[in-house]
Amino acid sequence: MVIIMDQNKTPLYDRLVLHASRQPVSLHVPGHKYGLINGLNGEQFFREIAKIDVTELSGLDDLHEPEGVILEAEALLAEAYGAEKSFFLVNGSTVGNLAMILGTLRENELVFVQRNCHKSVLNGVQLAKAKPVFLGPEVDENWGIAGGVSLKTVQEAFEAYPDCRAMILTYPNYYGMVNDLKEIIEFAHLRKVPVLIDEAHGAHLAAGDLFPPSALELGADVVVQSAHKTLPAMTMGSFLHVNSALVSAAGIEKYLRILQSSSPSYPIMASLDLARKYMATYLKEDQVYLKRELAAFKNELRKIDGVKLLEFPEFGGDPLKVTIQSETNLTGYQLLGLLEEKGIFAELADPYNVLFVLPLLKEGMSFPFMRVAEGIRQVLKESSGSKKDAKRPHVYFQKEKISVPFSYENLDRPVKMVPLEEAENYLCGEHIIPYPPGVPFLLRGERINARDLEGLLLLKEAGARFQGGSGLSKGYIKVFC
Ligand SMILES: Cc1ncc(COP(=O)(O)O)c(C=O)c1O
Repeated sequence: MVIIMDQNKTPLYDRLVLHASRQPVSLHVPGHKYGLINGLNGEQFFREIAKIDVTELSGLDDLHEPEGVILEAEALLAEAYGAEKSFFLVNGSTVGNLAMILGTLRENELVFVQRNCHKSVLNGVQLAKAKPVFLGPEVDENWGIAGGVSLKTVQEAFEAYPDCRAMILTYPNYYGMVNDLKEIIEFAHLRKVPVLIDEAHGAHLAAGDLFPPSALELGADVVVQSAHKTLPAMTMGSFLHVNSALVSAAGIEKYLRILQSSSPSYPIMASLDLARKYMATYLKEDQVYLKRELAAFKNELRKIDGVKLLEFPEFGGDPLKVTIQSETNLTGYQLLGLLEEKGIFAELADPYNVLFVLPLLKEGMSFPFMRVAEGIRQVLKESSGSKKDAKRPHVYFQKEKISVPFSYENLDRPVKMVPLEEAENYLCGEHIIPYPPGVPFLLRGERINARDLEGLLLLKEAGARFQGGSGLSKGYIKVFC
């Protein structure tokens, strides 16, 4: 990737700081008047940030029609990631996925969608009125979770549905697993089909070869990244990149204008400017340092009796994601809860595992890794159930490899609650989404099979939290009449 611009520049952030330094009088929105009007509880937390929480004033540009500092900041972003055109997003990868899909697909067009995608992808496909053909991911038996779809599945899907218009995949998955995306993209491109990637968990991958290659590097057409997940950006701050001969950036931009606030947050946008600089100036020395720190932490985890550090399968994975698996009779959820009592908050749990998202440290930065390891050790010592467990069933079964086109028609029908044990073969009446990770376990309109019910019970009993599934606690599920 050729870098010509000065990636140390942060034009939007600098302009905001300059504006704040002039001690301006605010006769404009927002109502806190740079923090002068103090209605915000927890004032001390907000005081500083209120100084840069501005609106589209002269010199501060306009996210929806950028021609000044935002245009420059977005050009730096595109260069840093090797994209033709890049956008700041102030409503997370959620809005990125919606705009990416609405800007690419038309009503009734067939689209391949990785079944274990985030709910925002499904919402986008539904809003576009496209027809998804779901591709079943590979399931990793050791981790007990679903990964990416295989090249073979994609090849078979194209054979079955040659008129598919786009493919939407998640890379890497929540746990940092990657797959043979390059071959998949090449295969799709031979058929002139664009590949849209939800790379919510991969905004840092372009920082160097310590990480798996980013989807843009592998040739993806549109890529959405939650900068706030793994780069030092404020929550909701995300990026969308277009690098395609098949998809028009203008079509996506049109939807970003429709879907994003007309008052985008300057603190979020400025944090994106800083996060891009952080990523773009990540040096070889930083990688060496981070690698050493991570290796020391992982070695410490390997020494703990009662948890297993999971190693990435076949294609490797993101070193910032570390998953430990309970080897006692504690579920992942219980382990996470006990760690929280020690002030250690992990990203997510599933029935067996706890996932940590580690920081993208630069040389010399410290992080309390040893406190985490010690916390795990203590939790396991204090918990009564530290005996090894026998082989356990896993939740995620391989559903169909290639579904028939899913129809959103006829879903405005009456629903009813039925006991779980009687629900097999009904069409599910609502999305049931363990959160996090936000990947629907059952979709509204999806036929429920016996394995779904087994998995659902297992999740419920292990202590998963759900969006949807209001009847589950009483053993019921909503189905179409
Ligand atoms: C794979 C994936 N895509 C999209 C999203 C939505 O991202 P955001 O929270 O930035 O809107 C998430 C959130 O967890 C996610 O895990």
